[in-house]
Amino acid sequence: MVLFRRLGIVACVAICSLLAPSLSSSSPRQDTAIANPTPADIDQGKQTFEVRCSTCHGLDGGGAMGPNIQGIPFRLGAPAVINVIKNGLSGGMPAFSGQLNDAQINQLVAYLLSLKRVDDAKVTGDPEKGKAVYDSSGCSSCHIISGEGSGTGPELTNVGAERGPSYLKTAVLYPGTDLPQARSFLESGGQLEYLYVHLVTKDGHTYDGTRAAEDSFHIVIKDATGKFLSFQKADLRQLDKESGKSTMPSYRGKLSDPQVNDLVAYLASLKGAR
Ligand code: HEC
Ligand code: HEC
Repeated sequence: MVLFRRLGIVACVAICSLLAPSLSSSSPRQDTAIANPTPADIDQGKQTFEVRCSTCHGLDGGGAMGPNIQGIPFRLGAPAVINVIKNGLSGGMPAFSGQLNDAQINQLVAYLLSLKRVDDAKVTGDPEKGKAVYDSSGCSSCHIISGEGSGTGPELTNVGAERGPSYLKTAVLYPGTDLPQARSFLESGGQLEYLYVHLVTKDGHTYDGTRAAEDSFHIVIKDATGKFLSFQKADLRQLDKESGKSTMPSYRGKLSDPQVNDLVAYLASLKGAR
C-alpha cells in the first residue's frame, strides 16, 4: 500500500534526523580542500548547493529534513565532509560521487565554510530553572527528551545542537511560524514534516492535526492527542493546509519573560548527551 509506504518514509525521516550526529563539538579545524578559495569558487559552490543540497539542508544550510550543516567543515574537518558528500550516510544522505566531480565538491566545501550560524543570539536564562519550567508546563506530553515524555511533537534530546536560541524562543512563543522545514519544503514543493491540516468531512465533522502521510486519494493526520486519523479525500468537503499554524499551543502570555528565557536556556543546553 502506497499509504503505508509513505508512513514508513515519514517515520524514517523522523528517525533519520534523530540519528544525525551531534553537532555540539570539539575544537574547530580548518583544513579546507581548496587552500584559498576565490569568491568565484564560493559562488559556484553556492549554486551547486542550492540545486543539490538545499531541499534537505535548507537554502541557508540551516537544516530542514537533513541536519544543520552551516560551517560543518570547521567541526568535522574538510576530508570527512568530502567523504560524506561522496559516499553518503545511512540515515538518508545520498552519495554524490557519480554526480559531482572533485572540483565541484571542493567548491561546495568552500561554500559551507563561508556559512556561519545565522542564529547567534545569546542565552541569558538559567537552564536549571528552565528545566523546572519545562516539567511544569506540560511539554513532556508532546515531546521526548532522552527517552522521557511522549511524542506527537519532535524529539528535543538534541534540539540545542540543531537549533539556535532565537529559533527556540520563536518555537515556544509562536509555534509553527519559523520552521526551516516549512520554508524550504514549500519552496521545493516537497512534503512538510509538520504541516498543520484543517479538514471538514462531507457529513460535517471538523478535524485538526499534523499531516502524517498523504497521497492522491488519502490523507492521514495526527491530532493533538497523538491519534492517527485516516480519510479518503473523496469524503472531504474541505481540506486546508496551513503552514503558519501548529498543534503546539503558544506559551506567549502563559509564561513570564524570565521563565521563557530560562526555558530557552534549558532547550539550548540539550545536545544529545545520553
Ligand atoms: C535527500 C536529502 C539530502 C540531500 C539531497 C543531501 N543531504 Fe546531506 N544529509 C541528509 C541527511 C538525512 C543527513 C543525516 C544522515 C545521517 O546522519 O546518517 C545528512 C548529512 C549530511 C552531512 C553530515 C552532517 C553531520 O553532522 O555529520 C553533510 C556534511 C551533508 N549532509 C552535506 C550535504 C551536501 C553538501 C549535499 C549536497 C551535495 C547534501 N548533503 C545533500 C540528507 C540529504
Ligand atoms: C500539544 C502538543 C505540544 C505541546 C504541549 C508542546 N509542544 Fe512543542 N511542538 C509540538 C509540535 C507538533 C511541534 C512541531 C512543529 C509545529 O507544529 O509547530 C513542536 C515543536 C517544538 C519545538 C521546535 C522543535 C524543532 O526541532 O524545530 C520546540 C523547541 C518545542 N516544540 C518546545 C516545546 C516546549 C518547551 C513546550 C512546553 C513549554 C512544548 N513544546 C509543548 C507539540 C507540542
